[in-house]
Amino acid sequence: MLGRLSFTFVTEIPEHLLKRSQSRRGEAGGDAVSPAAAATPATTQSAAPAVAASKAAAVPAGPPPAKPDIPVVAAYKARKKIPVWAMVTLSILPLWAFLYVIALRPVPVKATGPLGAGTKLYTGCAACHGDAGQGGIGYAFTNGSVIATFPHIEDQLRWVALGSDAYRNAGVDIAGDPNREGGAHIAGALGVMPNQAPTLTDAQILAVVCHERYALGGGDEASAEFALWCATDAPVYLALEAGTASFDNVHEQFAADGVLEIGRVPLAGTTAG
Ligand code: HEC
Repeated sequence: MLGRLSFTFVTEIPEHLLKRSQSRRGEAGGDAVSPAAAATPATTQSAAPAVAASKAAAVPAGPPPAKPDIPVVAAYKARKKIPVWAMVTLSILPLWAFLYVIALRPVPVKATGPLGAGTKLYTGCAACHGDAGQGGIGYAFTNGSVIATFPHIEDQLRWVALGSDAYRNAGVDIAGDPNREGGAHIAGALGVMPNQAPTLTDAQILAVVCHERYALGGGDEASAEFALWCATDAPVYLALEAGTASFDNVHEQFAADGVLEIGRVPLAGTTAG
């Protein structure tokens, strides 16, 4: 408001002064004016315009011109901006890297054979027979002990599936070799061996028995028994795992290999040979 007012004075007053000064000049050319009379109005009237003029000069004409940027800042402002699609693409890079690493990892080999599966299943037996088969509440398996009890794997499979109570109840006292070196193991002599058939499949029982005989018991992996039952490509294990054979009929399917009956009921153990 003040600025506008002042501005009005500024635009009007010079004309006014101009006219007056022109008329004065005319007067000066004609009649002589006393210096005092001429000076008085000039001083009184020119006081206000002088103030207005100085005010107008003080009012800034507009914002001061921006300082030019230093080269670094100018370059920063002039840089090419990253497009939005590139930002989106970049932001999913970590996810891509994560999936890439996962994809590169070798797929764990699933088929580890009966010994691989048996190692895991044995955790259910270790509490009573020891982590390394050294024995506990139940018998030790080490140093050929379990193979001495069960010269034929079929007798051990049946025993583990049925447990000690089934043998005692059936009146079958010796599940293994009656002529065992060091004495036959009598059912129930050490306590109760829990039956495994309700929780483990036939293939799983074979797997854990393979672990006991070969990983813990010191069995000979060059034997015909190992190749038939416990090797990674053992035909009996593969048949049990595929469900094409079971403890009921494996002795029929593999009769040519001399496989003995396992069955689902206690049977007297067999001697070596
Ligand atoms: C709760 C304890 C316990 C658990 C668990 C257990 N056992 Fe036993 N096991 C025994 C006992 C006790 C005996 C001895 C039974 C007897 O005196 O008739 C035994 C005996 C055996 C024998 C006979 C060994 C021999 O030389 O006479 C085998 C083989 C066997 N167990 C295998 C297994 C397997 C395989 C598992 C796991 C799937 C297992 N046991 C889990 C307690 C257990």
